[in-house]
Amino acid sequence: MIRMYHVNKTYEKNVLALQDITLNIARGEFVFFTGSSGAGKTTLLKLLFCEERPTSGQILINNINITNIEKPRIPYLRRRIGFVFQDYKLFNNKTVFDNVAFALEVIGVKRKNIKTKVGHVLSMVGLSSKTDFTPLSLSGGEKQRVAIARSLIHDPLILLADEPTGNLDADISMDIINLLSNINAYGTTVVVTTHNKEMVTMYQKRVIGLEQGKVLNYKSPPDFTRISPFFNKK
Ligand SMILES: Nc1ncnc2c1ncn2[C@@H]1O[C@H](COP(=O)(O)OP(=O)(O)O)[C@@H](O)[C@H]1O
Ligand SMILES: [Mg+2]
Repeated sequence: MIRMYHVNKTYEKNVLALQDITLNIARGEFVFFTGSSGAGKTTLLKLLFCEERPTSGQILINNINITNIEKPRIPYLRRRIGFVFQDYKLFNNKTVFDNVAFALEVIGVKRKNIKTKVGHVLSMVGLSSKTDFTPLSLSGGEKQRVAIARSLIHDPLILLADEPTGNLDADISMDIINLLSNINAYGTTVVVTTHNKEMVTMYQKRVIGLEQGKVLNYKSPPDFTRISPFFNKK
C-alpha cells in the first residue's frame, strides 16, 4: 500500500530530515513510527500526504507513483488518505457536525447524503450525542475523535495520524489507539507516529523506529494476505 525507495528529504539550510528511507507498508497493516522529537516522523507523513516532496527517491501509494504528482491531482489523492493531527485542527466556531461535513460540502455532495455519511462516521467514533456541540465544549479525547471522524469522511484507504495522543492523558490515549485499531480492523491501513515508546510496547503492532532521519531495525511487513481477513475489502 505504501512503498518508499531510498527517500531523502532535505529542507533548506541543509537540514537532512530523512535519509535513505526504504520501506513497505502492506495493505491492511497498522504501523507505529516511533522516534524522539526531530527524528523525521512528521516529515515522513507529510511526504505521504504530498504536503512535502522528497528531495530524491520514489514514493508509491496504492501502486501510484506520487513522487512527482502534478498539483491538480493532489486533492484527489488526499481523498484516499485521511490525516489526523496532534492538535486536532478543528474549527471552533463550527459544530461537530459541520467540522466533519466540511470536506463533503466543498465538493458539492447533496445535503441528504452528507447527513447520512456524517452520522455514520460520528457513530463510528462514538460521538453521535455531540453532533451539535462546538469543539470548545469537548474534552481533548473527544476533539481527537472528531478529527478522526473527519479523516474518515471519504472512506480512506490509508489513515495517517501524527502524534494523535500527544496532548492526551494515558487512559484517553489508549482509547484513541483502540479506536484507530478498530478502524484498521475494517480494512483501512493505519500509520501512527508517536514519541512515546512505552505506549507502543502495549500493542502488538509493527513498530518502525526513526532516529535522526534514518530507519532503525527495519523488518518487512508480514504477509497480510494470509493473516488479515479484511485484506480484500478495499
Ligand atoms: N519546514 C521545515 N523547514 C526546515 N526544517 C524542518 C522543517 N520541518 C522540519 N524540519 C527539520 O527536520 C527535522 C525532522 O523534523 P520532523 O519531521 O518535524 O520530526 P519529528 O516529527 O519526528 O519531530 C528536524 O530537524 C526539524 O527541525
Ligand atoms: Mg512531529
